[in-house]
Amino acid sequence: MSTPMPTTAVTGPPALWLRDNCPCGACRDPRNGQKLFQITDLPAHLAVGEVRGSVPAAGGGPGWEVVWEPDGHRSVYDAAWLAAHAPGGGAGAGGDGSGRGLPGDGRTEADKELWAAADLRGRVPEAGWEAYEADPRVREEVLESVARLGFALLRGVPVRDRAVLDVARTFGFVRETNYGELFEVRVEAAPTNLAFTGAGIAPHTDNPYRDPVPTLQLLHCLANAAPGGDSGLVDGFHAAALLRAEDPHAFAVLARTPVEFVFADARTELRAERPLIDVDPLGRVREIRFNNRSTGTVHGPADAVDAFYAAYRSFGELLLRPALRLDFRLAPGDCVVFDNTRLLHARTAFAESGERHLQGTYADLDGLLSTLAVLRREGGTA
Ligand code: OGA
Ligand code: ZN
Ligand code: ZN
Repeated sequence: MSTPMPTTAVTGPPALWLRDNCPCGACRDPRNGQKLFQITDLPAHLAVGEVRGSVPAAGGGPGWEVVWEPDGHRSVYDAAWLAAHAPGGGAGAGGDGSGRGLPGDGRTEADKELWAAADLRGRVPEAGWEAYEADPRVREEVLESVARLGFALLRGVPVRDRAVLDVARTFGFVRETNYGELFEVRVEAAPTNLAFTGAGIAPHTDNPYRDPVPTLQLLHCLANAAPGGDSGLVDGFHAAALLRAEDPHAFAVLARTPVEFVFADARTELRAERPLIDVDPLGRVREIRFNNRSTGTVHGPADAVDAFYAAYRSFGELLLRPALRLDFRLAPGDCVVFDNTRLLHARTAFAESGERHLQGTYADLDGLLSTLAVLRREGGTA
């Protein structure tokens, strides 16, 4: 048997972990795989009793059988499953204590390809709308790009009112907000947001004043005839990784300082308090928030506020490095789909006399990742 199943408490998988993963029909409903017991239902002094190898597992491959003490329950584990999942040899598997070597949840820097503009030269992820709609493999590639690079560009989406909602519905659910199901990005007479003017907008993430924040954003171009109004994207995870390398203290300050974000208009009063760089429990970058328009008042002891502002400025300068920013111009029919927890988006100023009109909407990454996983399963690429 290629996979040793250690049999002693000293070297074997932790007993509670092993029992919690029992695949038998009494422990998991065979119809849906859902667990049928609570952690508190297990015997208090659970121990691995007898162990036998070369037992056929449910999937047909070789397995290990465990007879449990004191309750005599029998579990059969697939040997390949055990090899892939059994807890490893102790803390600090990431080597440097950052956990960066450990598998991530799909949302942190551990599972992304970080980029600067030059890295994408000649390989900006894009696809035609018709191919995307017709071919599940094209859909898989596009969604995979959003997961790995943080964005993808769809070309040739019908130049039609509300088409952006159809795009979102190909992979998930529209997230309705105070701006409605969709928002119009065009010059307005009484703008509630600077986005609805001709002003240039520096790299930012949207809606940091919402918690949970919309994790995906779509921008669909209906018209872009005004001089100016070019688009930019910056990989915030890459920028945060650079900050950590160049100024670890600033990174640590931004990861631990809660920042208030606010938005108010006649019908809305939103407020959320989160750090600019959010890390997972292992210290890996997981979410970026950065939006000068809606950053509120920072509170705290004077020295902490001082340290925050120095770090905020360093990060802000880093995000403006031209080498980091992918510049492009949306043409009518283009729709950019991007990870609003990772990428910052920007636009240059445009002449308010010219016609520029985008429709945007929000959606969520969990739904997109689910659609991608199902496409992979169906396409045999899982
Ligand atoms: C926005 C925004 C970008 C653009 O509406 O949040 O950033 O290109 N718009 O107008
Ligand atoms: Zn069981
Ligand atoms: Zn925006």
